[in-house]
Amino acid sequence: MFLGLWDLLVAPALPVVARASLCDAHGAATGLMQFAVGKDGTADIVFDPVRDGIMVYSEPKTGCGSLEWSAGPMLEPPCRVRHGRGTRAIMCHAESCATDFLNSRPPGSRTWVLSSNRNPFEMRPSALFQEIYGHWTAHDIMTANVSTLVDLFHAKYGKSSPRWWTKHFYDTFGLNITAQPFDFQNKFLHVEHVWNSRRLSVIIVRLEDSHQWSEILGRFFPKMRLVTANEMAAKGSNVLASRYREFLNALSWTDTELDFNSRTESFTHFYTTEEQRAFLGAARSRGMPSAGVAAASADGHGDVALGDSGALPTC
Ligand SMILES: *[C@@H]1O[C@H](CO)[C@@H](O)[C@H](O)[C@H]1NC(C)=O
Ligand SMILES: *[C@@H]1O[C@H](CO)[C@@H](O)[C@H](O)[C@H]1NC(C)=O
Repeated sequence: MFLGLWDLLVAPALPVVARASLCDAHGAATGLMQFAVGKDGTADIVFDPVRDGIMVYSEPKTGCGSLEWSAGPMLEPPCRVRHGRGTRAIMCHAESCATDFLNSRPPGSRTWVLSSNRNPFEMRPSALFQEIYGHWTAHDIMTANVSTLVDLFHAKYGKSSPRWWTKHFYDTFGLNITAQPFDFQNKFLHVEHVWNSRRLSVIIVRLEDSHQWSEILGRFFPKMRLVTANEMAAKGSNVLASRYREFLNALSWTDTELDFNSRTESFTHFYTTEEQRAFLGAARSRGMPSAGVAAASADGHGDVALGDSGALPTC
């Protein structure tokens, strides 16, 4: 198993496409009306690909890249979701990005907020390498001393909040995500919320279920075709991937880090007791989780994907 291998890939820079009026247009209601199906099997909300907005809003390294690349093509007309800008759809990590986008949407409109969650024992090492990939030269990466990388990893601990969901949803929109139970049967959390006269349909999935995202999300978005990181070949990142494996082999969690991760909302709210026990047990004994529970499938969904939507105008 190549933990996080795909996380290392970063979407190649695409030619910048001027924002086309095509994507901003809200024509007559010619788009397909699609019905979202509630837990009881009844249609309760309607996804309108012409009028509704989409905001991919997640912690980095949770597979949100797949959601980002999959969201635009199902809008009418289709478009390409970008990080930090867009009028109909957007990808945000930061609260201000999210509030700016929602404020730019018409009052009364609906925005689908798509989020993903990931076992922090996998998410955090992956995030370190994302950062390294973004800021280090190829030479630096190649010559990096693994013990230096491990030190860097430990030094970064404790600098982030264990309450990502509270910070990004409750403090930002008054929506308490941890008060909403995750549906372990159907593998999503769905909650409707109104913020500043904008309707939010929040759907949260787990990266560990990403092999089932088509079915899980299909009930809300029948037209969604999931683009996965697997569709892009791992070109030119062999060095980084091998550094990452060396790093994972060398990493062992400190008690403080084990404790911190186990207290995060990402860990406590989105996994069953058995899953939590497996993640924690694996982290304790081997440094990294590899127990079967929901971990293996996470590999294919880093923040990266490249599909047909690359050529589309910005949403
Ligand atoms: C890595 O760095 C540490 C601390 O600077 C040093 O003790 C160790 O010898 C280095 N290892 C290698 C393989 O260069
Ligand atoms: C959100 O709800 C949970 C569960 O009811 C509660 O424990 C927590 O304190 C709430 N968070 C806030 C910020 O009110």
